[in-house]
Amino acid sequence: MTTIKVCLGSSCYVRGNDKTLAFLEDYISKNKKDVTIELLGCRCSNACQDGPSIFINDKRYAHPSHEELTNLLEGL
Ligand code: FES
Repeated sequence: MTTIKVCLGSSCYVRGNDKTLAFLEDYISKNKKDVTIELLGCRCSNACQDGPSIFINDKRYAHPSHEELTNLLEGL
């Protein structure tokens, strides 16, 4: 199983993770039905200055574009 955490701390949220979360929810529901993916929100991880951040199996990705997210998801 893959766990994706989207930082929903205020800094990451206003800098784009609101849209990232919506993108991930939509992409996963449409394209990854055969893979178990846990999509969670998480609190600030004290990496605000390099955010917005997401974590895939606890590896941090800083300000990923939708194209980068698509490539990461396709690899799952
Ligand atoms: S708000 Fe996301 S790392 Fe601080």
